[in-house]
Amino acid sequence: MNSAYTKLIQPIEMLVTSGEMRSEILLNVCKLLKDKVYHFDWVGFYVLDVSGSNLLLETFVGKPTEHTVIPVGKGVCGQVAENRKLKIVQDVNQEGNYIACSIDVQSEIVVPILKDDKFVAEIDIDSHSPAPFTVDDEEFLTVICQILSVLF
Ligand code: SME
Repeated sequence: MNSAYTKLIQPIEMLVTSGEMRSEILLNVCKLLKDKVYHFDWVGFYVLDVSGSNLLLETFVGKPTEHTVIPVGKGVCGQVAENRKLKIVQDVNQEGNYIACSIDVQSEIVVPILKDDKFVAEIDIDSHSPAPFTVDDEEFLTVICQILSVLF
């Protein structure tokens, strides 16, 4: 993982242990990531509802979206909820099961948050850059999601 990403892990651990409410912690994580990573243009967290059939947008930074409720299985976010596997879409125009939020978005990464091996939430990141995501993004965001799992 590159050193810019490594340096962000401790501040995120500190946010998690701050004692703030979960939504406040997640908002601060969104702000930090959007602020520090050039190709992260929209950062948000979707949380599985009690019925287990919908994702609810808990918090985000970036342009407001009308997609505040996403059924499991629908779009990139819904696929990750269903499969519990990180998904990178380097070109959203090539993705059949995709929910468009803004015409500026070119690519997307969604990483699941698992608690006791069950899907509980996910981080969704949209980028205005074409094909910007690397193995570093995968590793970094996987670590972040492991750290955040204690909040659920
Ligand atoms: N593009 C997502 C929808 C959420 S927005 O990116 C905020 C999807 O296909 O699930």
